[in-house]
Amino acid sequence: MRIHIVRDYAEMSRLAARVVAEEITLRPRSVLGLATGETTLGLYQELIRLHWEEGLDFSEVRTFNLDEYIGVHPEDSTSYSYYMTHNFFRHINLEPANTFLPNSLAADIETECLSYEQRIDASGGIDLQVLGIGQNGHIGFNEPGTDFAQPTHPVQLADSTIESNARFFPSPNEVPRLAISMGLGTIMKARKILLLAHGSHKADAIYSLVCGAISPTTPASVLRLHLNVRLILEQSAARLISECAQREN
Ligand code: GLP
Repeated sequence: MRIHIVRDYAEMSRLAARVVAEEITLRPRSVLGLATGETTLGLYQELIRLHWEEGLDFSEVRTFNLDEYIGVHPEDSTSYSYYMTHNFFRHINLEPANTFLPNSLAADIETECLSYEQRIDASGGIDLQVLGIGQNGHIGFNEPGTDFAQPTHPVQLADSTIESNARFFPSPNEVPRLAISMGLGTIMKARKILLLAHGSHKADAIYSLVCGAISPTTPASVLRLHLNVRLILEQSAARLISECAQREN
């Protein structure tokens, strides 16, 4: 696991964008795994800038998002589909047909999960998976206790996740309780993984990921078993790991 500790959010976003841009430049038909949330907004802004100012070409790139709320219409401003369209997709030259999110309006959610997993496999698999991390150590919506080997599946959100995601909704009651998420097994199949975190509210989760036990109690800890993981951490998110970061680097 390679760990980069950077000064601030802007530096985290710029470095992450360089990693993604390098992947696309080397492999124009790259398959990217994408995340939503506050963490990745700066990365998307920087990639948009690289597209317009340096000609970064997304025309052959395919993308698969980690997760989506169940029952929220894709055009609803709280859906992850809306987030991706408005914060990233519509500002670059990605083909809309090459962007995938789980269909959270599917009548049969189990079948949707299975076919999402199959679509990822049929694309050749994810080359680079971008991740944020939840305060409870979740990645995607894989909450504590999730089986490490699980494929895409429906999830019940933890109370702490509902609470922390309430900032994106008019009121906490409106945060959906269910979602579809790539599983930890899906994420671990990606060839490369890039996890970003900023803010001291993420310091405990980063400590558990880097220094704690490898256990489903901290879903992100499974990443220590992957051979190609890079963490880009803003310094306050990294403030608790100095004692063991050396060991991991
Ligand atoms: C959500 C998403 C995750 C994301 C996490 C962190 O629950 N499902 O994919 O990484 O929250 O979000 P933020 O970046 O807003 O802190």
